[in-house]
Amino acid sequence: MKTVLLTHPLPPDWISLLSGRVNLLAGREEIPGWRDDLLAALPQAEGILSLLTARVDESILVRVPKLKVVSNMAVGVDNIDVAACTKRGIPVGNTPGAMTDATADLTISLLLAAARHLPESSRDAREGRWSTWSPTGWLGADLRGATLGIIGLGKIGSAVAERARGFGLRIVYWEPAPSVDAEATKGARYLPLNELLATSDFVSLHCPLNESTRGLIDESALRKMKPAAILVNAARGPIVDTDALVRALSENWIRSAALDVTDPEPLPPDHVLYSLQNCFIVPHIGSATFGTRKRMAEMACENLLAGLEGRQLPNCVNPKVYK
Ligand code: GLV
Repeated sequence: MKTVLLTHPLPPDWISLLSGRVNLLAGREEIPGWRDDLLAALPQAEGILSLLTARVDESILVRVPKLKVVSNMAVGVDNIDVAACTKRGIPVGNTPGAMTDATADLTISLLLAAARHLPESSRDAREGRWSTWSPTGWLGADLRGATLGIIGLGKIGSAVAERARGFGLRIVYWEPAPSVDAEATKGARYLPLNELLATSDFVSLHCPLNESTRGLIDESALRKMKPAAILVNAARGPIVDTDALVRALSENWIRSAALDVTDPEPLPPDHVLYSLQNCFIVPHIGSATFGTRKRMAEMACENLLAGLEGRQLPNCVNPKVYK
């Protein structure tokens, strides 16, 4: 049986497709990335089933001479050196579509939580600061008629737009990737990035992390946003320059930020972002629903098995390897 390295354990019923078909070696729950015995098994491995917490780059690839497939249990593949895999003819799989709804739901949750001060007001209630119904206490932002700027109107961005319309938000978007299909743009107006930043009451990030989007929301972008604007990031942490964000929030260039992803990730418990009242952080839970995570694991298994058997992956990010 072919040896497959799984960089983090998964519930057996999520990966039942693999049972009896591969020799599976899994990492440990509490250790992100590559633990020693996985590293030691690299020379035998023919497949890697990776989570976004494990980097698969040259330093790993040179140690896996028999590798046939890298299957990432995520839609984002920024943890994988795709170019290095392509150079070696190794297909890389991902799980597009599986987490669209869950991530869009979480994005709207973050937006609402930040707009209506749910984290701080809940803390105030719990800690004895709810002395009366205060007509001016915990005032938040109105949604109806406000503008939501979506950066990256792909599957998840479009699903966020669909939900946001129900709240009466006006949708504008900017797209770092060249093509967005006409269906996706229905009801959303394209704006150049600077204009989107200057006119949006909420800015939500949904582009992939790559060399053109790393640090996209830097000091100059944050300074262009409205002082009352709320930034939502459920995409990838490094799209935002963390130091610039700390300054933007401390000096009130923008009102607040709601983050599902951070840079670094995980964010160390003593990080200054946690101390800011206007920053709300959850631990990368965008796709964390029972159904979604199970489906992501199943899709990752389908890609993995296809790669091991020499079939084209159902979801391949570098189909060039088949040319
Ligand atoms: C999660 O963040 C994913 O990319 O699937």
